[in-house]
Amino acid sequence: MYGLDGRIAIVTGAAGGIGRAIAVRLAREGCDVGIFDLDEAGAHATAERVRAEGRRAAVALGSVARRAEVMGGTATLTGALGPIDVLVNNAGILRTSPFMETTEQAWRDVFAVNVDGTFHFCQAVLPGMMKRARGAIVNMSSWAGKKSVPNHAAYSASKFAVIGLTQSIALETAGRGIRVNAVCPGIIADTQMRVDAEAANRAQGLPDLETRAKTVPLCRAGSPEEVAGVVAFLVSDEAAYMTGQAINITGGLWMS
Ligand SMILES: NC(=O)c1ccc[n+]([C@@H]2O[C@H](COP(=O)([O-])OP(=O)(O)OC[C@H]3O[C@@H](n4cnc5c(N)ncnc54)[C@H](O)[C@@H]3O)[C@@H](O)[C@H]2O)c1
Repeated sequence: MYGLDGRIAIVTGAAGGIGRAIAVRLAREGCDVGIFDLDEAGAHATAERVRAEGRRAAVALGSVARRAEVMGGTATLTGALGPIDVLVNNAGILRTSPFMETTEQAWRDVFAVNVDGTFHFCQAVLPGMMKRARGAIVNMSSWAGKKSVPNHAAYSASKFAVIGLTQSIALETAGRGIRVNAVCPGIIADTQMRVDAEAANRAQGLPDLETRAKTVPLCRAGSPEEVAGVVAFLVSDEAAYMTGQAINITGGLWMS
């Protein structure tokens, strides 16, 4: 346990998958949690899980890609819970296609959520964090943000961008009580994105999850809870000397 008692967190994309696991883990560590997502039913289900851990929860609905909704959602969650100590920019989307079949719309959609969303939310919470000289941010990249694979041009480029954004904000906020890191999960099972990715792989005749999991040094896919544990560590004081890092959570699939 990392002892986050009394801290207030926002987790984006927390209506399911990895984001829900992060919200629940942060609550277990003592955080009150604000959930920002497009999916109303999923967001409220996560809020119930947070309350079941004995912590306060609040929901704001909107798209991370729309700046006004991010600013409004941040104000709603701050009003309900208090000043934000922890931000996890988890919301993300995946579109796969051969590069020459990638439409401009798909390219822009992926960047709007994965990159612009992270940009908007960091700008929404950082003024409060800077004023209080206290805060921790974790941005969701991917191992595809360090090494690409075929048919992932937009996704991979967006996740490389998240690492660059993380490093730049970390440098500008270092020494002001704020740390900014990224995580780079590998193959994480039990999420909607994984279900969609596996369907796309099947359609393209690529190896299935079971076959690819065997190529992972730890011989299996990871779980959302295993990503959440690393995020909880990174936002805690145990990681007080870490900023600007991009931490692999890949079962050894990627090592640099
Ligand atoms: N599953 C994996 O194998 C894997 C691996 C590496 C990185 N990731 C990253 O982890 C993050 C979470 O992915 P997941 O696998 O849990 O996916 P998921 O599809 O299960 O969950 C994504 C969540 O984000 C929300 N969301 C999507 N677009 C949004 C928007 N515009 N505004 C607000 N919320 C939005 C969805 O409603 C959903 O609740 C993503 O950033 C993804 O790129 C996932």
